[in-house]
Amino acid sequence: MQIAPESPTEELLSLLLECALPIADLSPTSPVQFFGIRSGGTLVAVVGLEFHGPFALLRSLAVSPRFRERGFARSLVSFAESFAASCGVDTLFLLTTTAERFFLALGYQPVSRSAAPTVIQATAQFASLCPVSSAFLSRRVAAAA
Ligand SMILES: CC(C)(COP(=O)(O)OP(=O)(O)OC[C@H]1O[C@@H](n2cnc3c(N)ncnc32)[C@H](O)[C@@H]1OP(=O)(O)O)[C@@H](O)C(=O)NCCC(=O)NCCS
Repeated sequence: MQIAPESPTEELLSLLLECALPIADLSPTSPVQFFGIRSGGTLVAVVGLEFHGPFALLRSLAVSPRFRERGFARSLVSFAESFAASCGVDTLFLLTTTAERFFLALGYQPVSRSAAPTVIQATAQFASLCPVSSAFLSRRVAAAA
């Protein structure tokens, strides 16, 4: 399995739509870095990191239904965490209505929405795209000093 950078192409947006994830705030100029896994040239799994200074939103984690339960999502999250840490990110945040237990199992912890950094509260995902009922989770990724 190879994980490589991806751009928000039609193919990537289609995968997110197929997995019922929001795409309204994604454009070629969004501050989002995607990574994906391909099978036979087709994009089958993706994750995004939306950078906001020392914080980042982990978003757009999607695995094509036929390719689930093979560890692709876990590998992408682990890769994104290492990449974020290497870019100087201290803490990752995420919103999810569908995969809270998945992220809790990976060490993410619930956070009060009111405790979110202002830059995270200002993201489209936080402010409007994800329902207020979404779970809000975080995980520190910075290497211990
Ligand atoms: C959630 C999702 C990314 C998981 O992808 P995946 O490649 O099947 O996950 P992995 O193979 O890496 O991990 C499988 C493990 O996670 C668990 N898991 C998978 N989806 C889960 C979910 N939605 N909630 C809780 N646990 C989940 C499995 O039970 C399995 O656990 P086990 O190893 O203890 O048996 C995939 O189901 C998906 O694309 N869902 C739709 C989009 C979505 O909800 N994205 C997350 C919000 S950003």
